[in-house]
Amino acid sequence: MELFEQLFERSKSVTPGGVHSPVRAFKGLDQAPLFFKSGQGALMIDQKDKTYIDLCSSFGPLILGHRDSEVQASIQGILENAWSFGAPEAYSLDLAEWIINEIPWIEKIRFVNSGTEAVMTALRLAKGYTGRNKILKFDGCYHGHVDSMLVASGSGLAGTATASSAGISEAVASETLVAKLDSEKEVIEIFEREGSDIAAIIVEPLPANYGLLPQRKEFLQFLRKISKENGALLIFDEVISGFRVSMGGMAEVSDVVPDLVTYGKIIGGGFPVGAFAGNTEIMEMLAPTGPVYQAGTLSANPICMVAGLNTLKKIKRDNVIEKTNLACSTFAKNLNKAFFDLELPLQCIQAASLFFITEKTEKPIRDIDSLPKNHGEFFKKLYPLLLEEGIYIAPAAYEVGFFSAAITNDMVQELSDKFIKVICKVMNEER
Ligand SMILES: Cc1ncc(COP(=O)(O)O)c(C=O)c1O
Repeated sequence: MELFEQLFERSKSVTPGGVHSPVRAFKGLDQAPLFFKSGQGALMIDQKDKTYIDLCSSFGPLILGHRDSEVQASIQGILENAWSFGAPEAYSLDLAEWIINEIPWIEKIRFVNSGTEAVMTALRLAKGYTGRNKILKFDGCYHGHVDSMLVASGSGLAGTATASSAGISEAVASETLVAKLDSEKEVIEIFEREGSDIAAIIVEPLPANYGLLPQRKEFLQFLRKISKENGALLIFDEVISGFRVSMGGMAEVSDVVPDLVTYGKIIGGGFPVGAFAGNTEIMEMLAPTGPVYQAGTLSANPICMVAGLNTLKKIKRDNVIEKTNLACSTFAKNLNKAFFDLELPLQCIQAASLFFITEKTEKPIRDIDSLPKNHGEFFKKLYPLLLEEGIYIAPAAYEVGFFSAAITNDMVQELSDKFIKVICKVMNEER
């Protein structure tokens, strides 16, 4: 048996499906997952010593690439002094102050260990603050594996939800209302019916977990308006978009001030950090000042705080966001030009430093029903050819690609050429 198959078999004997997070399992692809041993800059090296340009970036956190030397030096310093105290320290204070200073509408922030934890607590806080029980979410937005968020729209009335995972009770699913993205009409209908029970709307303002579904700015502004009119909070889940689309995230880009924001991924610079933030009035509802309970043994872990702070400082100092956005948009333009010139019915959708390649559509794709139906088959053919060329993207059809600042101009050209080459191969086989 070849090496990855051996490692995967061993893994499967000790953890369900051989992975610690399902999307890593190469499900639907005809091969065992790759096992990696090291990363540096834009590159990852697998256990067979093959090098890949990484367009997964650990699903988003690694906007500086792997093991950025400045962040690494800062962590090494901390390792000499502070691992965990379970007591107040000033490392998290520095990070909190830096973020509050950077994003004008944030007055208070709390650090947790993952995006899921951030969302879970933001939802509880919204419920505690408003005294209401229901949350409105959108089909196709992912908010981590919080019970009440593992639902999809049900059949019947707009808003009804069914559990999308076993283990979620009907009672839990019934407290979530699910609307279609980009549909003012559905949101209005749901608020007319259940507005007085809705504690919050939660949305990925740049949905990037089911393909890439950039929303109209007017839609996000409409969500702000309707939530305010109905006494519900607006939560922007910026676990992916935060510190990636701009320092102030999609809130800044769309000119919308949400009541609460959730962060994860980049905020920890590759270490496990999540956070949620908002104004003082809402945030002070949290324990120990308020009645909404939340806690964490390893919350605000010094190593993670220092990695996060130095990552954010570098992003700002080196104009990382602009540079990374430019690299990604150059890549997308190269691909779209080739698709046009070669008459290939494909498109590379790009927003900031994220991209998603799929079949061409007449209109921009803004909701999951508009995604091309054959996308999965296209991806299945494309994926192994990309690996052969030394390009690693997330091993699942509906995941987006993530650019990092470590991708050089030369790599942008190399990536463009190689993508075009393998896409032509896939499309020619189909003809
Ligand atoms: C928008 C969004 N929210 C929440 C989460 C959950 O974050 P975590 O995986 O850190 O729990 C994710 C993870 O991909 C996400 O993309």
